[in-house]
Amino acid sequence: MDVSKEIKLIKSLSDGKAEPRVGIILGTGLSSISNSLKNKLSISYEELPAFPQIGVDGHDGCLIIGELSNLEIVILQGRTHYYETGKVDLMRKPIQVLSELGCEILIITNSAGSLIDDVDPGKLVLIDDHINFTGVSPLFGIEGNERFVDMVNAYDPKIRKIFKNVAIENNIPLKEGVYTWFSGPNFETPSEIRAAKLLGGHVVGMSTVPEVILSRFFGLKVAAISIITNMGAGMGEDKLSHEKTIKNANAASESLNVLLTQFLKKINDK
Ligand code: HPA
Repeated sequence: MDVSKEIKLIKSLSDGKAEPRVGIILGTGLSSISNSLKNKLSISYEELPAFPQIGVDGHDGCLIIGELSNLEIVILQGRTHYYETGKVDLMRKPIQVLSELGCEILIITNSAGSLIDDVDPGKLVLIDDHINFTGVSPLFGIEGNERFVDMVNAYDPKIRKIFKNVAIENNIPLKEGVYTWFSGPNFETPSEIRAAKLLGGHVVGMSTVPEVILSRFFGLKVAAISIITNMGAGMGEDKLSHEKTIKNANAASESLNVLLTQFLKKINDK
């Protein structure tokens, strides 16, 4: 897989200076942290041939390099979801680009439904493992032994510990939990939600798992955080909708921004 065109373009637009250590993928309705970046360079996915064109409300399709908490980072604002095309590997090259730019850590954010009664909309959940209910992998078709990626501790325990400390220091409730990946785009049935709960899931969503698998494939350390936008189907009174997901994600993004900013500060101090 060749991403040399993308790397060359990013390097030339940043005068050869881009060397981010941390990447962040922003989920639906969570782009506000990009406004806090200093010395910002934004490149539309349209200019990056290996990047997917983005087709979901609440996603912009932009790679942004800049400084947050005095640390150079790269943000992928906008991702593709499996449900958009039925192709599961469209984030393969973007994550390879992050890896080749020098990122060591990828932090993935998303909107999700809660399967736990006392984790209600507006709360954050730090993902500590996942269950892949789709049966597909973004590594389909890759050859060689590297494709047999070890997924034990895929969500890096040391990074999780830092996030948990940051949450305590900033009075942000942050439970850990297992993310269950459904393909979407339809929301789950109440029976599927009950099954996911029985099998050990704590939150439910339509993204993130392919990116985590790809990150481990490329050797990046990963953390992932869900913003709870609704209770799982059949658990709450409300009818589920994408409009509500965006609205509730926007409303809760402030505490996510604090968590991310303070996390970067902490790893920069080390
Ligand atoms: N299910 C799947 N994906 C989601 C949900 C949900 O309830 N809420 C936000 N993304």
